[in-house]
Amino acid sequence: MTSPQPTPLFTESEIAARVATLAAAISRDYADRGELLLVGVLKGTFIFLADLARRIEVRRQIDFVALSSYRDGATRPAELRPVMDLRGDITGRHVLVVEDIVDTGRTLAYLMPLLAARSPSSLAVCTLLHKRARREVAIEPDYVGFEVPDRWVVGYGLDHAERYRALPYIGVIEER
Ligand code: IMP
Repeated sequence: MTSPQPTPLFTESEIAARVATLAAAISRDYADRGELLLVGVLKGTFIFLADLARRIEVRRQIDFVALSSYRDGATRPAELRPVMDLRGDITGRHVLVVEDIVDTGRTLAYLMPLLAARSPSSLAVCTLLHKRARREVAIEPDYVGFEVPDRWVVGYGLDHAERYRALPYIGVIEER
């Protein structure tokens, strides 16, 4: 079965330029703080995090968490639960959570208190995409790549039923 071709929203070069700008801002903000720990929320963040981490110019380490959220692209969120925890201790560390997209905000509303309870020195969020229209909880990411409309976006790590993650650009598909 072939998948419909997404309608492009952000091209590869637009994404690269925005990632460079985000990395420059993060490098500035963390320049005097010592080592930064980038925490990627799997799976959608894997390409964004790889590009962002290579652009950031302060000392950094990388860790991952995985949570169950949406199932197969369905619009109703599945019950959130941890699927994979961080490998390392974050006590006293500067932690930057890296998300692919903040949609309802439920994932961050669940994750941030869990991380905060481990007493990091600082805790902030960088999201590539921000779908403000569907926000259900008061969460304001510290770094935002692009605002996106209330449509299902895929590519550059984001999926629809596990398809399209490896698409080099970000596009919109019609079904939701
Ligand atoms: P939230 O908990 O509603 O903020 O949703 C966060 C998660 O939902 C993201 O990390 C994505 O995995 C998924 N998600 C939400 N909207 C989209 C979309 O438009 N495309 C792909 N994944 C999405």
